[in-house]
Amino acid sequence: MYERNDPDKEGMEINMTKQELSALLREMSLEEKVNQMMQVAGGFFTGDLVAMGPIRDKGITEEAISQAGSVIGVYGAEKTRRIQQDYMEKHPHKIPLLFMLDVINGFKTIFPIPLAQGAAFEPELAEKSARAAAKEAAVSGLHVTFAPMCDLVRDARWGRVMESTGEDPYLNSLYAEAMVKGFQGKDLKEKYHIAACVKHFAGYGAPTAGRDYNTVELSQHTLKEFYLPAYKAGIDAGAAMVMTSFHTINGIPATGNRWLMRDILRKELGFDGVLISDWGAVEELICHGYCANRREAAARSVKAGVDIDMMSGVYAEQLCEMVRENVVSETLIDEAACRILELKNRLGLFENPYKDADESKEKEVILCWEHRELAREYARKSFVLLKNEGVLPLAKGSRTVYIGPYVDNRNMIGAWSFTGDTDCVATIREAVEERGEEAVFCQGCPMLGPDMHLEGFTEKTEEEISREECERMMEEAVQQAKRAGKVVLAIGEHRLQSGEATSSAYIQVPQIQMELFRRICEVNDQVAVVLFAGRPLDIREIAEKAKAVLLVWMPGTEGAGAIADILYGDFCPTGKLPMSFPYCVGQVPVHYNEYATGRPYREKEDRGRFHSGYLDIPNAPLYPFGYGLSYTRFEISPVELDRNSMRRDEKITASVTVKNAGQRTGTETLQLYIHDIAASVVRPVKELKDFCKITLRPGEERKVSFSITEDKLCFLTENDRWESEPGEFEVFIGSDSTTENRAVFTLTED
Ligand code: NOJ
Repeated sequence: MYERNDPDKEGMEINMTKQELSALLREMSLEEKVNQMMQVAGGFFTGDLVAMGPIRDKGITEEAISQAGSVIGVYGAEKTRRIQQDYMEKHPHKIPLLFMLDVINGFKTIFPIPLAQGAAFEPELAEKSARAAAKEAAVSGLHVTFAPMCDLVRDARWGRVMESTGEDPYLNSLYAEAMVKGFQGKDLKEKYHIAACVKHFAGYGAPTAGRDYNTVELSQHTLKEFYLPAYKAGIDAGAAMVMTSFHTINGIPATGNRWLMRDILRKELGFDGVLISDWGAVEELICHGYCANRREAAARSVKAGVDIDMMSGVYAEQLCEMVRENVVSETLIDEAACRILELKNRLGLFENPYKDADESKEKEVILCWEHRELAREYARKSFVLLKNEGVLPLAKGSRTVYIGPYVDNRNMIGAWSFTGDTDCVATIREAVEERGEEAVFCQGCPMLGPDMHLEGFTEKTEEEISREECERMMEEAVQQAKRAGKVVLAIGEHRLQSGEATSSAYIQVPQIQMELFRRICEVNDQVAVVLFAGRPLDIREIAEKAKAVLLVWMPGTEGAGAIADILYGDFCPTGKLPMSFPYCVGQVPVHYNEYATGRPYREKEDRGRFHSGYLDIPNAPLYPFGYGLSYTRFEISPVELDRNSMRRDEKITASVTVKNAGQRTGTETLQLYIHDIAASVVRPVKELKDFCKITLRPGEERKVSFSITEDKLCFLTENDRWESEPGEFEVFIGSDSTTENRAVFTLTED
């Protein structure tokens, strides 16, 4: 029997040592090791599922399932403790089971969706909210979350953009790092922390035509320079796990892609943790046309270095036999099983298999005041004021008419928050009433209406409403709007319209709501739209007709209170777009950090035809990356540099003076962009390299300085190395990515 350290002995390592782990591995049978590499649904352990039908036919016995190394989808302190105890009693080597789940933007306290989190331009908040989510999840018996998602996104048709923090590699990297730190803490053994899993490796955010699971074509340069940095940041921050993705990348499915997983992930990025497939992705290698059968799928995946097969059962069915036939080397199995055991060891499960699962703590921690306050602050900071012609903020004590399907609706926590409970969410109506404001509320129309059905959802998306009832609701709203001073119209996407498998060709607010919008605008010209969305939408008409547009995304458990805080001016909006809002869908993928092309189109300057542009729409998105207004106004002075040239070991300080020229205290996010004017591989027209949030009282001004060091000038050159090239650079400082506030400097030869 392998020997354990005595944890009671003073000075002894509490975790298993490497030697102990190796001894354990040597004692395990091949079946036991392969079973560690299988992840099954928690239902098998709760008694909700039994191995029958296709699973049993595939030769996966109940005994194998009862030894699976990890489960997905069960949580709750009492339940997980019971399962763990039972599991370990039966396990030949008393190896603990890992409990995993998608804890994306919160566990029970739901924070704004990740895309909204990006809009806060405050990674510190992402770290704090991930820490809070980890605490709630940990006391509920979970050990691993399938987050953060680090996929760069440029195409709003793809419904999963809501799970990303946007289109910028630098911003995404900061968020990836912050989230990993928040979930994991300094040491996985620490109380109330869980392991993070960076996903979906790699390039899942670029599906052709925005269609989920679709093919990805990315040049190696684009993949490495723009798509990999955020995954790398998560890995460098210590993420214990990485997940593969569903798509093919340049013709090879990611899950069986040896080059991607071994050369890039393991060697180049130095990842030595556990690699898990996405759900069923090992078996999907057959559908891709990459493997003829489950046997080949097992071989390709294990050779690519995938340690855990999530939910396809291919490993458990195939690998033992393949090892015995010498088709797959046992060394590969040992490596994978060893990494899984190491993760269990890092979590301290060999000493305490229940980790933080604790029923009394669940009561204390879940949805506690501290987490709810944080959720409210985060929601407020994630809202983006897209337009405001004097309608907002609402005067306290004024009578406002609230109209729209989101006025009295709790469904604002977003698609990936199935652990959250909408009963704990206040509606806008409740939040406004709680403040004692004078207001009238009416729904105006259903969310989707009789003509729109979301196909394929198991959950009911909406009560059926007849056309006559819709008409009656709209008419009532119109009558209210006629008598109103100001109207707040709370409209937007249904909570389930964005998320996995929700690609959309028309990225618009549902038509029934647009009809309501038009009818309200006809009778009232003081309309402020509160826009709910999981992705950038085509909102040209809304932006034109409404007097104000406040984008609130899917704001989470405390969304309604946060909306009221902003509407009534307790706080100024501060959010900035982490992803461009396209002019229309024909423009996507659209992102600020594009290349210039050989025939750049300069708005207003170039009238001729032979430029890179459209006949019918502008090149610029409706609202660009980094954009967002405040209730106050900021003036930014021209960029000043302390010197005009630098060597690689030197730095330049770029400064501006920011003045709050409005009437309210407010916060501006100053953004520093750099453009390398000529380079061996063309550079984006602008790249975000730094930012800083600054709060100023009315009339107050302050100097803000950024350091430009060589690392901000490096890129993947023609030598396939991250390095800088001497020459001229433009530096921009402004309030969004369209700023022309610039200065020029030179990087000289050493
Ligand atoms: C499929 C999704 O692509 C992935 O993001 C998620 O973590 C797994 N399912 C598990 O729920």
